[in-house]
Amino acid sequence: MKAMTLNSFGGPDSFELSELPKPVPQAGQVLVRVHATSINPLDYQVRRGDYRDFVPLPAITGHDVSGVVDAVGPGVTMFSPGDEVWYTPQIFQGPGSYAEYHVANENIIGRKPRSLSHLEAASLSLVGGTAWEALVSRAALRVGESILIHGGAGGVGHVAIQVAKAIGAKVFTTVREDNFEFARSVGADVVIDYRKEDYVDAIMRETDGRGVDVVFDTLGGNTLSRSPNVLAQLGRVVTIVDIAHPQNLIEAWGKNASFHFVFTRQNQGKLDELSTLVERGQLRPHVGAVYSLDDISLAHARLETPNNGVRGKIAIAVDPSAATARASS
Ligand SMILES: NC(=O)c1ccc[n+]([C@@H]2O[C@H](COP(=O)([O-])OP(=O)(O)OC[C@H]3O[C@@H](n4cnc5c(N)ncnc54)[C@H](OP(=O)(O)O)[C@@H]3O)[C@@H](O)[C@H]2O)c1
Repeated sequence: MKAMTLNSFGGPDSFELSELPKPVPQAGQVLVRVHATSINPLDYQVRRGDYRDFVPLPAITGHDVSGVVDAVGPGVTMFSPGDEVWYTPQIFQGPGSYAEYHVANENIIGRKPRSLSHLEAASLSLVGGTAWEALVSRAALRVGESILIHGGAGGVGHVAIQVAKAIGAKVFTTVREDNFEFARSVGADVVIDYRKEDYVDAIMRETDGRGVDVVFDTLGGNTLSRSPNVLAQLGRVVTIVDIAHPQNLIEAWGKNASFHFVFTRQNQGKLDELSTLVERGQLRPHVGAVYSLDDISLAHARLETPNNGVRGKIAIAVDPSAATARASS
């Protein structure tokens, strides 16, 4: 099979096209013909060597799969060849999805939402699973609450807005002005231009000094330590960005705040719940750009560039003839 491998860590040109043996599914595993994948910041972080202690070389990165079951290993009961599936490969546990085939345990695989193309499904599994875990499982966002979602035009952010709206929350989001219309189109109630106004001032003005119930940090930096300044009493902060520097959280005490740290985990139930929202018309990933597997270096270079003009996700058509197809029957 064709795969994009990393034989060394480095810049976007580090990928090499390799011809590798097609994997053989073991007990409980499913072999999937990958029609589409996508790229996430995690992939360029892996490529740069940020996780070199967890990723032995040569490596295949890639953390989204949408495709069709090719074969199943002994004991697999939930899937058969021909089924359309989607999932996030287990992170740092074996090869990723920048390849024509991928093998995974059946218990992390979901049935692809019928109304999504493979490009769309591959643009939702990781970011959707992350947003779901952050907002539903950890922050326990409730109907009528308010949430500040940072980076509302990004991969995670634009999906988190839709999940929050489906729950029935009021959504404030930080984006650049060029992305106001896009953020509103996916459901944001209040958009804040992070380049023109300090978001703390904007939130306190827009909430008449009350603050929001939940902050979703997709940015890192000092977002965690500043979050208590925009929180209402008993507010929750959920971050998905690793903390590079110590943070002063003293302001959190007066707000009775709680903090949640999320590193996304794979499970079938989460995919099925996302799928329900998709089929109800409440959630749809936005594919802002599509590249071929051969052009993965270009896709990486673009995602890493600030203000790259991409709204939502960059998807990768591994099999271009199949990637745009929705349900097969
Ligand atoms: N822990 C986990 O499980 C997990 C899972 C997924 C992602 N993540 C992390 O979450 C972060 C976001 O991921 P992603 O996939 O959404 O990335 P992405 O698609 O690159 O989106 C990032 C967005 O943030 C915006 N942005 C940049 N600076 C900003 C600022 N100061 N204020 C508001 N928005 C700003 C960017 O917009 P511009 O065009 O304006 O620059 C872009 O739209 C990454 O650090 C990633 O590693 C963690």
